Amino acid sequence: MANKSSVFFCNECGYESAKWMGQCPACRAWNTFVEERTSSGKTSSSKSARLDLETAVTGINDVKADKMHRRSTGFPEFDRVLGGGLVDGSLILLGGDPGIGKSTLLLQSMRNLSNSGEKVLYVSGEESPSQIKIRADRIGAFTGQMKLFCETDLELVSEAIRKVSPSIAVIDSIQTIYDPKISSAAGSVSQIREATSVFMRMAKTLGITIILVGHVTKEGMVAGPRVLEHMVDTVLYLEGERHASYRILRGVKNRFGSTDEIGIFEMEENGLTEVKNASEYMLNGRLEDASGSCISCSMGGSRPILLEIQALVCKTSFGMPRRSSTGTDANRINLLIAVLEKRMGLRMADMDAYVNIAGGIKVTEPAIDLGLLLAILSSAKDVVIDPYTVCFGEVGLSGEIRGVSQASRRVNEAKGLGFKKAIIPYGNVSSVKDVGDMEIVPVKTVLELGRAI
Ligand code: TYD
Ligand code: MG
Repeated sequence: MANKSSVFFCNECGYESAKWMGQCPACRAWNTFVEERTSSGKTSSSKSARLDLETAVTGINDVKADKMHRRSTGFPEFDRVLGGGLVDGSLILLGGDPGIGKSTLLLQSMRNLSNSGEKVLYVSGEESPSQIKIRADRIGAFTGQMKLFCETDLELVSEAIRKVSPSIAVIDSIQTIYDPKISSAAGSVSQIREATSVFMRMAKTLGITIILVGHVTKEGMVAGPRVLEHMVDTVLYLEGERHASYRILRGVKNRFGSTDEIGIFEMEENGLTEVKNASEYMLNGRLEDASGSCISCSMGGSRPILLEIQALVCKTSFGMPRRSSTGTDANRINLLIAVLEKRMGLRMADMDAYVNIAGGIKVTEPAIDLGLLLAILSSAKDVVIDPYTVCFGEVGLSGEIRGVSQASRRVNEAKGLGFKKAIIPYGNVSSVKDVGDMEIVPVKTVLELGRAI
């Protein structure tokens, strides 16, 4: 068989192919394939090691589970997304757009860890020590032992980790790390895969936590962090608009915890600060007497968050009505508008509809359907919904309102913020307890909504 000396990789998702393709069959992205040389030296597996069944294969009940040791990053929000802190011997990938605050978040966490006595190594392939120092001065005093190493050579970096033997190492960013033995350029799929597998082995054998930073790239020759997602233990993304100050840390994969937790931060003069009361933050600055505004409640992991949903419905000036949504799924809006037309007789064919979730958070949970629907209805009819009313529920195609999970916690979050009334699915009424003087309005179908508000 011919020895292939090059392969093609998709820069988006890492799909490997023997020939170039215009569209990636795995992630459907266009024009993302790049050619990379592979080293042809195949390891010959000649002797099959004799397998000792007695020791190699064990019964599940004979395995002694080590107690996971977790270290706090000093940010309860970050710890919660991690599932309770950094686990020893784990490899974590922190992805996000360039300039979103990944280096800042990690530098602050490493400061907290080193100030509490941990040995920390911060490897940067992007910035010089003096640049890092300028940033460090902005975020506060470093009293502990934090070592800096500005290098991109994979061998030197792994050597440094071995010699310094920190309990936590940060590699900022994985795309700058370069192994001269691999002929493709730094940031290519083969380079970052090789570097990641080296760091994975180091994390496991040395029992230390290694955090990799990965820039999300839109195009070009640098592969994105998605290529690595399957190789690491935990994948976190830091999201947000560059021009707004909030940042949301979201878990996408976690071998040591759940993935629905989110952490909310705010970028300030001296680094990121945690937003403790997410609901208050999200409702900040709303107008209480505007039509097209409705408060709903979504579960961000184990924590309920109140959100303001805004809709603007106005006459179409072109033939086709425009439908646009920010922060939620556009198809869901089309579906809800169809339900409004068919089940409630609302005429939307010559109306544009714009929907926005204030605060910049993205929500895809169906529990906010009712909020979306009411916001659109409120704008279309120009009626103001009482600002101290919260609503949630999934809307079905027949106009029925279905129950959602954790209804009681959602209602209690609203109660805590002084809300007076909750419009909830009929199916959830029995599970909602301890609401005090809050009025609970159960609804079965969308036809009951007029009465409810
Ligand atoms: P950075 O952490 O460098 O982003 P990344 O590593 O994800 O590329 O963040 C850079 C941005 O954060 C930059 O636009 C400046 C801003 N910033 C602040 O607003 N306050 C601060 O205290 C710091 C350190 C950065
Ligand atoms: Mg950075």
